[in-house]
Amino acid sequence: MRRKIAAGNWKMNGTREALAELRDLKAACPAPSVDVLICPPAPLLAAAADTGVPVGGQDCHPADSGAHTGDISAPMLRDAGATHVILGHSERRADHGETSALVRDKVIAARKAGLIPIVCAGENLDQRRAGDAVAVVVDQVAQSLPDDSDGSVIVAYEPIWAIGTGETATTDDIANMHSALRAALVERFGEAGAQIRLLYGGSVKPSNAADIFTVADVDGALVGGASLKASDFSAIISALEGA
Ligand code: PGA
Repeated sequence: MRRKIAAGNWKMNGTREALAELRDLKAACPAPSVDVLICPPAPLLAAAADTGVPVGGQDCHPADSGAHTGDISAPMLRDAGATHVILGHSERRADHGETSALVRDKVIAARKAGLIPIVCAGENLDQRRAGDAVAVVVDQVAQSLPDDSDGSVIVAYEPIWAIGTGETATTDDIANMHSALRAALVERFGEAGAQIRLLYGGSVKPSNAADIFTVADVDGALVGGASLKASDFSAIISALEGA
């Protein structure tokens, strides 16, 4: 049985005053029946963890420590109170040239530090129009996951054209992608592949969450914009609890 998860990705948004949203979220969802997670900017991690809302990082370096100015290691995230870390988000792949091979090394580092990685993959609009979306995403996931992957890893399907645009993939597109991913995970990892949770991400909001959560093999969502407001995110959590 895969436990459902609603994960929020604040990206580069929020200063200390945003902690009030976490306190409101905690008040709105004191004991959720699904996993709930917020990934705030790194400077807020420790204070965010103190609110009692589970928190995660948005990236980590593959090394534990060393001369890497500006980077943050997995043990540092863990030390700050993180339980999860988003890896290979399309914005990191685009802005920082991250390859799937690098993402894989980060996944290894995260698991070694006791963090649950949320590994992102998604196609761009040209790839979708060319009919290559499934092949591209299945390949990205394959390259980004180490050979011993199991239920301690989460995968997020995030079509790039749906991120922050207000556009969402249709439930048919999501169903198609998630079933292809599930088949590939089971083929490679056997029973362990059946335990890997598959999230959808890309303009998930209160008005479309319930529909998305009806799709087979959607175990939750990775939510950007709509995770910044406790009222929106708690509505998404409720939709997931009711799915
Ligand atoms: P969005 O972002 O919900 O704002 O589209 C999702 C994501 O990038 O994780």
